[in-house]
Amino acid sequence: MTADGKERAKWAAAEGALNYVENGMRVGLGTGSTAEKFVELLGRRCRERNWQVICVPTSEATRAQAERLGLALDEAYPDFRSLDIVVDGADEIDGKGNLTKGGGGALLREKYVASAAGRMIVIVDEAKHVERLGSTFRIPVEIVAFAWSNTIGRLERLADKVELRKRGDQVFVTDQGNYIADCTFSSITDPAELHRQLKNLLGVVETGIFSGLAKVCVTGHADGSFSIQEF
Ligand code: 5RP
Repeated sequence: MTADGKERAKWAAAEGALNYVENGMRVGLGTGSTAEKFVELLGRRCRERNWQVICVPTSEATRAQAERLGLALDEAYPDFRSLDIVVDGADEIDGKGNLTKGGGGALLREKYVASAAGRMIVIVDEAKHVERLGSTFRIPVEIVAFAWSNTIGRLERLADKVELRKRGDQVFVTDQGNYIADCTFSSITDPAELHRQLKNLLGVVETGIFSGLAKVCVTGHADGSFSIQEF
């Protein structure tokens, strides 16, 4: 897919997801370049139709964008309870709706928001569809900063390769003040089980494996169309 085609596909997925939002809903806002497009379109729709939606963003970047667009945040934010839906991107999606997330480092807040939402709508372009998680993208694991190399040692007993995420020559720090370990696995046959094993390790805060959370996937295509898959 060309870069232009990819952009069109992301806009198309964002457009398709807009059909799931209604006036008055409580909406979780994802993070990343595809989710950013959805937030843009949602802001426009709320302005044009005078809609009132209550939003919970999954990162500081998305919070800043939502505020810029005049979208209302939950008055208890950063606390919140239930949401009607969340619309978020993904790094990979398999045929059962399992996801790899965390490319943007927002996986912890993304998981809170997805878990609180009645329906998770995933927006991706075609390239994100995989047979098995971990085949095109490493599994991000959020770990506490304290004794991080200790935690990486434990992760190395499960993964083929583990790398502390950096931005330039600085360690990448999440919105929660944690680090990210990007883990390579040769073959992931049971994503939910791998998530459980990783979560059991001391120092692991959350994993980028999202199992059983996605209810709908809107896939954008390079020609500007989108298709829907339900789980
Ligand atoms: C951020 C995420 C993103 O949703 C994921 O990385 C996809 O991003 P993009 O839409 O830019 O490809 O999980 O933590």
